[in-house]
Parts: sequence; structure tokens; C-alpha cells
Amino acid sequence: MASVASTIQLIQLNGQRNSQSESICDPDLTHEPWDFDALAPTYGPGASVLDPIPSNAPRQGTLPREYRELPPEVLEARIRAAKETLGDRLLILGHFYQRDEVVRHADYVGDSLQLAQVTSTRPSAEAIVFCGVHFMAETADILTRPDQAVILPNLAAGCSMADMADLDSVEQCWEQLEEVYGTELDVQGRQPILPVTYINSSAALKAFCGRHGGVVCTSSNARTVLDWAFERGQRVLFFPDQHLGRNTAKAMGIPLRQMPTWDPRKRLGGNTPETLRDARVLLWHGFCSVHKRFSVEQISHARAAHPGVRVIVHPECPMDVVDAADEAGSTDYIRKAIEAAPAGTTFAVGTEINLVRRLATQHPDKTIFSLDPVICPCSTMYRIHPGYLAWVLEALVRGEVLNRIVVPDRVAQNARIALGRMLALNSAPTVQAPEPAFAAPEPVTA
Ligand code: 13P
Ligand code: SF4
Repeated sequence: MASVASTIQLIQLNGQRNSQSESICDPDLTHEPWDFDALAPTYGPGASVLDPIPSNAPRQGTLPREYRELPPEVLEARIRAAKETLGDRLLILGHFYQRDEVVRHADYVGDSLQLAQVTSTRPSAEAIVFCGVHFMAETADILTRPDQAVILPNLAAGCSMADMADLDSVEQCWEQLEEVYGTELDVQGRQPILPVTYINSSAALKAFCGRHGGVVCTSSNARTVLDWAFERGQRVLFFPDQHLGRNTAKAMGIPLRQMPTWDPRKRLGGNTPETLRDARVLLWHGFCSVHKRFSVEQISHARAAHPGVRVIVHPECPMDVVDAADEAGSTDYIRKAIEAAPAGTTFAVGTEINLVRRLATQHPDKTIFSLDPVICPCSTMYRIHPGYLAWVLEALVRGEVLNRIVVPDRVAQNARIALGRMLALNSAPTVQAPEPAFAAPEPVTA
């Protein structure tokens, strides 16, 4: 199966005549990421392009022309050469949603939890190049030594979901909650409410959790973390992803009426004091625009077209989608479930397209396809291209550190507390080294 980038090029070349009737959600996906660096800040083309970007979002300057013009095979060779020169001084991390042309250079490929865990396992690395998005690089900076530089190859690779909760709005929310709940511990020593932030959030929000007895979670440990939180809090304020919060709390048996949504634009989040007093989990009104695209209707189509199909989705999908699926789990859960299935199994997968396509390539003995018939990558993961990777690596070879992500000490200290509470709940890293199946995409010819 062709990689996402080459499929998009193929659709562009074939126009409306594409025999596979594949389509892309945004015609701008046929452009390279640097075409967007000079424009007004945007997440880039793809699933989150319509989400409003904060005015203070980091911007990527112009990528030097050389790196924009190098053919893919030359970029590939130069990345390999720079990597070899840097040796153990360099660690490249890649999230599962990165394009194949980037992932194949990663020393470790994993989900958010695994990539957070692995940062501490390579003390010899002077530079950690994070092929993922901004909050992941911030987390890596918090968990590594000050003399280790964490680099994000394209500063515009943010996360629209993470941007849906900012520190000011969460602090205002907290003040209102203290008015309703007070601050007294109950007879079991539990806080009236405890903050839990999804790792897809700014370092400032992780620090907020650290200051208020709270914790960080990822999609692979949300249940364990919520169990921990309920031992210490009567209620939980969960941000920014309402869907992960709702799906996890529902699986724990918490009724929906006790999980009101908090709309930061409204007084008391749009709730009455009575609703808030009865609540067990308050769900911040955030979501992932990639996972929001999946629907129950798509699942019905998949089941009708492929009797016996296993439908597996990410818990950032809306609750009705998770309920209609056969199973839900983090990116690594999805990878392992597909790996463990017998040959001949058919999977309809509800997560980012780069991972789905790669799994399909790695498992030719199984039928694996995206629930969403439209090709629509995460618009921020898309911003990392081999051109930016080559640019930051060759600078490192010259002794220059570009695009360093630095979390200020006062923020990092408290954020580390919240991350540390989470990491203490999880065992050793289970990261995956890149596999030979991450082959170069086939060249596209007209
Ligand atoms: P995981 O890798 O933890 O499953 O999260 C998916 C995601 O959306 C990363 O941004
Ligand atoms: Fe953010 Fe969703 Fe992209 Fe993950 S897939 S980086 S949550 S926008």
C-alpha cells in the first residue's frame, strides 16, 4: 500500500479520475508544509485546519531553500549521514502519526506514553529531536536534563486539542469550582476536586496539575490514572479532551449525568451549582479534530461491507463511536491488537491515517483500512517533513541547535511533579524500534 504522502500525490495527479475513488479532505494537502510557514498562523491542511489557532502559537520561520528543493532520496541520504555523524549524541523520537519518510529515521517510535518514558533512557543523548508535536517536545524537555536539548523540527507542529485549554481559562474554572466546593478535605482526606490533564496539553497546564495535587494521563493509562485520582479527590476536572475523559469514566461505571461538560466561555462552565455538586468528572470542552471525524455511520458501512470486521478505534473518538466499535485503545494498543490477530483478520481502524496506512503495509496478511473513507491526516503532525529534519540535524553536525523547546524552570518543576505521579503508575518503557517494514514510499510517476 502506498504511503499517505504518495497517495495524496497520486490523487493530485489523477484529479477526479482516480480509480480507487479515494479523496482527500483538503486540497492544500498536496502542498509541502513550508508553503504554509510564511502565511498567517494555521495548523496546516488536514483534520484540524478549521480549529482556531491561538495568536501566540509558535511560528516556524522560512526553511532554507536548499531543504525545500532537495529531492526525497537526497534528503533521505543526508539525514542518514547526519545521524551517523552524531551517533549516540543524538536521539530521534517519532510518534506513530508521523509520515513514513520521517518515522523511518526514528530511534524509537511509540505512543505518547512510551515517548515520554523513553526520554530518560538515553542519558548520552545531547540532542533529542522530537518528530511529533509541541506538547510532546515540551514533555521531553521537562523529563530530561537541562544540558540535553530537545528540538522540534518544525515549530508550527502544535496540537489543536492541546490549544483548546489555556492556563487562564483553567485557573478561572478552578476559582469558580472552589466557590462551589470549598477547599476542605473530606473525612477520607480527599480534595473536593482534583485536576487531571491529558498529556496533550501545555506544560503550564501540567504545572497547574502539579500545584493542585493533580496528575497527567495518556490514552493508554487514563483508567489507571483516574483510579489514582479518585483515591485523592472526590471529583476530577479532566482536560482538555472531553472524549477520552467521558469514554474512560463511562468504562469505570460513572453515569453520564455525573459527567457534565465544562464550557470555558460560560459561568460555571454552563452548569448549575447543583449539577456541579453531584458531578464525579467535569469534562473540559476540548476534542481532537482527527478523531472527531469518525462516526457510527462509518462503522455500520464497514460492518455491512466486511462481515466479521473488527472495528478498533482510539479513545479520543466520540462516545457513540467507541460504544459501536469492538474495542478502543491508544495507538500502541491498536498496533499490538492488529499484530496479535490471526492472518486473514479484517480491521476497520479509527485513528490517524498515517498509522493506519503503515499498519496495512506491515501486515499484508490482514485487511486493514481506515473507517473514514476520506484521507485526512492530522494537520499538525503533517508539519514535520524530512526537509525540516535534515535542516535541524545538519545544524547539529555544525554545532548549532535550532528550534530548541525550553520549558521555563518554574513551570517545569511543577509539571515534573504531575508527570512523575503518572510515570510512577506505569512500568518500564515498551517502546518500539523502527522496523524494516518502514520502507521508502514508492516513487509516484505521472
Ligand atoms: P497516543 O499516542 O497516546 O495514543 O495519542 C494519540 C494522539 O493523539 C497523539 O497526539
Ligand atoms: Fe492533537 Fe489530534 Fe493531532 Fe493528536 S491527532 S496531535 S490530539 S490534533
